[in-house]
Amino acid sequence: MKKYALLASATLVLAFLIGRVHGHGDVQPQPVDIGNLELLGDEWRVTNPYVGNEEAIEIGASAYNQNCARCHGLQAISGGIAPDLRELPSDADGDEWYAMRVQNGVVRNGITYMPAFGELLGQEALWAIRAWLLTVAEDA
Ligand code: HEC
Repeated sequence: MKKYALLASATLVLAFLIGRVHGHGDVQPQPVDIGNLELLGDEWRVTNPYVGNEEAIEIGASAYNQNCARCHGLQAISGGIAPDLRELPSDADGDEWYAMRVQNGVVRNGITYMPAFGELLGQEALWAIRAWLLTVAEDA
């Protein structure tokens, strides 16, 4: 009896580990309700239109938790898997780098380190996440 229990838990641990490996890069984006945020159209803005926008910050916090935290950490505190996004500069250069990364993701040598989110979430949700990230930024 005990042996079976042990085997069962070992199988569970294995399934969990395999799930994690597969889960990486293979995104299941969570739709984001952008509430009453101003719509931004198809063309990506160069800088964040929602800086300091309370509604955007609230939407961004939740969208971050659903779509980014599993790699970048809760509250944007990285556990080491992916860069700590609190360290991203808060200025226009930071906006540019952020927009480029979230739109295209990061693929190197055929390995997806980060999936492309531009089409999946849309720029409203992604700029809302950036607006929230600014509230925890190290240089804020
Ligand atoms: C599957 C894991 C994963 C998910 C999910 C993920 N990222 Fe990433 N992200 C990474 C990794 C890994 C890197 C570093 C890539 C590299 O090696 O350049 C990265 C890099 C970035 C960068 C560039 C940071 C820097 O310092 O250069 C930004 C910005 C970013 N991610 C934002 C986001 C946002 C916003 C979300 C949610 C919408 C998100 N990421 C979801 C794994 C992930």
